[in-house]
Amino acid sequence: MLIKCEPAHFDEIRDIINDAAIAYKGVIPDDCWHEPYMSGDELANQIADGVEFWGYFENDSLIGVMGIQHKQDVTLIRHAYVRTESRNKGIGAKLLLHLTAVATGPVLIGTWAAADWAIGFYRKHGFRLLPEEDKDRLLDRYWRIPARQKHTSVVLAGPNWAP
Ligand SMILES: CC(C)(COP(=O)(O)OP(=O)(O)OC[C@H]1O[C@@H](n2cnc3c(N)ncnc32)[C@H](O)[C@@H]1OP(=O)(O)O)[C@@H](O)C(=O)NCCC(=O)NCCS
Repeated sequence: MLIKCEPAHFDEIRDIINDAAIAYKGVIPDDCWHEPYMSGDELANQIADGVEFWGYFENDSLIGVMGIQHKQDVTLIRHAYVRTESRNKGIGAKLLLHLTAVATGPVLIGTWAAADWAIGFYRKHGFRLLPEEDKDRLLDRYWRIPARQKHTSVVLAGPNWAP
């Protein structure tokens, strides 16, 4: 079951993010890794900044989340995480398909350059990696992330993106 998350799901969302983000450990630059990966305060900030989380539930348990954020003329997919034990069963695909369907503008996704599994996952769903110069411009325009994270990230665009 795929539904929009409610405030009552806050702790479960944070736990899924911190479970799934273990995938980054030893992969993204060490100075970008911290534990927990997402604190409760940071998650609250993200939600206050307009990130709306959707969740995939099985037997009343949340096992995957993905956020959507409408920014000016584009829609960003943010914070895509599926519990480690539930990967590669199509849950990420269901969330991504749903969020791209409710997007109001061209869809952009930012992720760590080193997260080749995530880049592969998005490419498989029709997203393409944007060139370095577009990436920097778009991260400055639509994201609020630390400078170091910008340098070590990539941006992918959906099929209806026209630069
Ligand atoms: C990215 C993520 C959300 C995908 O969720 P998921 O439920 O495992 O995704 P799905 O099961 O729908 O699809 C996984 C697909 O990606 C494919 N894939 C995995 N690694 C890949 C790679 N390196 N290159 C190409 N494809 C890859 C798998 O083969 C699978 O394809 P299949 O359906 O044909 O078998 C999940 O892996 C995750 O939480 N990862 C850790 C956090 C993360 O990287 N988040 C992205 C942040 S933007």
